[in-house]
Amino acid sequence: MSKLRRQWQLLMLLIAIHLAHADTTTTAREESDPDSETGQFFTRLYKRNLRQMMELRNASAEPCADFYAHACGNFSQLAKAEDQDEALPPFLYNMQDRMQFFQTQHGNFETLPGKLLAQLYSECKMRSRSQHVGSLHQISATHWERMLEQLPFLTVHEEVLSSWPFLRHQWQRRQLDEQLNWIQLAAQLAAHGLPTLLHIYFAEQTIYLAPMQELPCPSLRGFKLSMSEVLTDRHPQVAHIVAHEMRVLCRGMRGELPLTNSLTRRNQSTPSPGQEQLQLDDNTMDYLQNFFGLLNFTERQLAGARKLPLNVERITQAWQVLRQTEPRIVYNYVMWQARQHLEYEDCYQLATEFERLLHAEYWQWHVLAPQLRRDVAMAMYQLHTTRFQQRRRTTLNRRDWYGLLLPGSVEHPELQVARLLQAHAQHYLNITELTMQYNQVQFRPGSFYGNLLQLRRVQLRHSFESPYVDEDDVNQSAYFLRKFLHFVLLSLHRPMYHYYATEGLQLWHQSRLLQDTDGYYTALDCLERQTQQLYDAEVAPIYRPLSSHEVANVFHFYRSFQASLRDYKFWLHGERFVFAEQFVLQYFGLDEHRVLFYAVAQQLCNRQDEILAAQINRGYMNLPEFQAAFKCDPDAFMNPPAKCMLNRCE
Ligand SMILES: *[C@@H]1O[C@H](CO)[C@@H](O)[C@H](O)[C@H]1NC(C)=O
Ligand SMILES: *[C@@H]1O[C@H](CO)[C@@H](O)[C@H](O)[C@H]1NC(C)=O
Ligand SMILES: *[C@@H]1O[C@H](CO)[C@@H](O)[C@H](O)[C@H]1NC(C)=O
Ligand SMILES: *[C@@H]1O[C@H](CO)[C@@H](O)[C@H](O)[C@H]1NC(C)=O
Ligand SMILES: *[C@@H]1O[C@H](CO)[C@@H](O)[C@H](O)[C@H]1NC(C)=O
Ligand SMILES: *[C@@H]1O[C@H](CO)[C@@H](O)[C@H](O)[C@H]1NC(C)=O
Repeated sequence: MSKLRRQWQLLMLLIAIHLAHADTTTTAREESDPDSETGQFFTRLYKRNLRQMMELRNASAEPCADFYAHACGNFSQLAKAEDQDEALPPFLYNMQDRMQFFQTQHGNFETLPGKLLAQLYSECKMRSRSQHVGSLHQISATHWERMLEQLPFLTVHEEVLSSWPFLRHQWQRRQLDEQLNWIQLAAQLAAHGLPTLLHIYFAEQTIYLAPMQELPCPSLRGFKLSMSEVLTDRHPQVAHIVAHEMRVLCRGMRGELPLTNSLTRRNQSTPSPGQEQLQLDDNTMDYLQNFFGLLNFTERQLAGARKLPLNVERITQAWQVLRQTEPRIVYNYVMWQARQHLEYEDCYQLATEFERLLHAEYWQWHVLAPQLRRDVAMAMYQLHTTRFQQRRRTTLNRRDWYGLLLPGSVEHPELQVARLLQAHAQHYLNITELTMQYNQVQFRPGSFYGNLLQLRRVQLRHSFESPYVDEDDVNQSAYFLRKFLHFVLLSLHRPMYHYYATEGLQLWHQSRLLQDTDGYYTALDCLERQTQQLYDAEVAPIYRPLSSHEVANVFHFYRSFQASLRDYKFWLHGERFVFAEQFVLQYFGLDEHRVLFYAVAQQLCNRQDEILAAQINRGYMNLPEFQAAFKCDPDAFMNPPAKCMLNRCE
């Protein structure tokens, strides 16, 4: 351990020197480029953050009386202040920081996947501007017009579709049954990553068939509102009729209505419920044929794949409703879903939808290199999570963690998170492979919807060749790879204590490594006793009775917070940055013992104050670290005579 720590210290020292050096040489440049990476930049980060921390507090409320009220007391004042952004609780910033980085850097992306994503993002942003440049009328196109223009499989029917949604008489008069086919449309959309009636997805050599998890089904009013743009020139009745028809359909598919209804065209026998095998009627067959045809899978790929239908009963039920419904109505509904889904209001969604591409770009480090070297960042991350990983290693057995990823020969007594991440990234974010896959994409300039669906199609295809990776599973290194990249971006925007108050705390919290049944029951008893002895609605509402669910939260919060606080101190201890951190903190009348209590509590300001106040206060008051930092009087509310949860050994 000590050897490793020395290495890290050396690296940290190098960064400190680098920063100090930059500080002296770039002052001139800084005037024109205020965000350039310098020591001053970091100092400014700290100052801004700490000033906000101070302003959120209500200085006249005592920390030892009701810490939460003290820490968040000025929130309402601050929220009224002129700069709304600055008033948001800092936790929301983590996402915002990533967004900001993406927005400012996407123009500098260098890998093929990264460039595709960047182009799509620019096109998404451009949508609001005029699309008809060069044509006679220079008005901006509506969402619907753009869809018809840009999606090739809709453009074919552009003329007919301009009068969508269809009523029965229109459909019959124009004999649309012969032109428009809901099965084809739904399969087209699904093959481009926009499922509407059936959810088909892949993992390596495996095909999953599942019902739509959350089939959209708004109220009549919701349907009508969503179509107001296309229905402006039509009779108000039309909206009502179409909305009603679609609502009956989607409620039927969700199983909320008895099967037969007024829309029945013909009856067919019901397959007996609970069948294991998915019975494919001609509609489903047709759909699957279209779908797989469009994805260009070979016969051999299809035949060799495992096929796993999930929740067969629900699929069968939904498709039976489809069979009983007029094709026109299904067509309207499928198109309605596509239209809704493609609104794509928040362009940053692209970065989460295609996160693998984005992370592949980041992992190549082109855009990060000017800020931080990759090996330095890795070493920092390793240091940041050292205590967590040590705990994890003793809790999980070696096979669970190492065995998944590396052959036995690579195992090493020290936990090499950096190496595990590297191994995983080389595989999962393999830029050669991604480039090969995404090379097929041929973007049409200025065609956001068309391009978006192309990219989705390739992504869907690619997922058939990739092993399944769950980035939210704390037991997989994908989780840490993602956390690592988040950590890097966060460290460019926020002071280090902020990391421990957010990501670091979450790491412990989500891992459930600290859960412990005995400890919970002890806490339950003890907190109840505290309530009985000290509760007084007027003087100290912070001792209000807690439900067993709340006790579990307090207990889990307590332990995660304690662990994260220790991580923070471990980092300070092993870290030559400490002088800077202490210096700035002192300036604001804080110290490293107190800062995390504020940082954590303030993330939660103004969100369910009633609930969280009790949770945070009850957690803090029982922490020896809190008493040490704030030195509350023996009779202060935040200093109960008997503390809970102290009897757990680590
Ligand atoms: C509370 O917020 C207001 C508005 O931003 C600010 O002027 C004031 O200084 C804050 N109070 C404290 C104690 O920081
Ligand atoms: C600050 O705390 C004092 C004392 O508890 C209280 O009277 C005052 O209303 C609080 N200020 C705000 C802005 O909540
Ligand atoms: C369909 O309904 C008709 C009467 O409405 C009935 O005669 C016929 O047997 C039914 N067909 C099936 C397959 O259930
Ligand atoms: C699918 O394959 C066909 C023939 O093999 C080819 O013509 C077509 O361009 C391919 N489609 C895509 C989108 O790759
Ligand atoms: C990356 O992908 C290429 C092309 O598929 C392959 O040859 C190479 O072995 C892969 N590298 C790793 C580390 O998986
Ligand atoms: C991770 O793995 C451990 C040991 O196999 C298990 O106890 C724990 O529940 C797993 N955690 C999750 C979130 O799957």
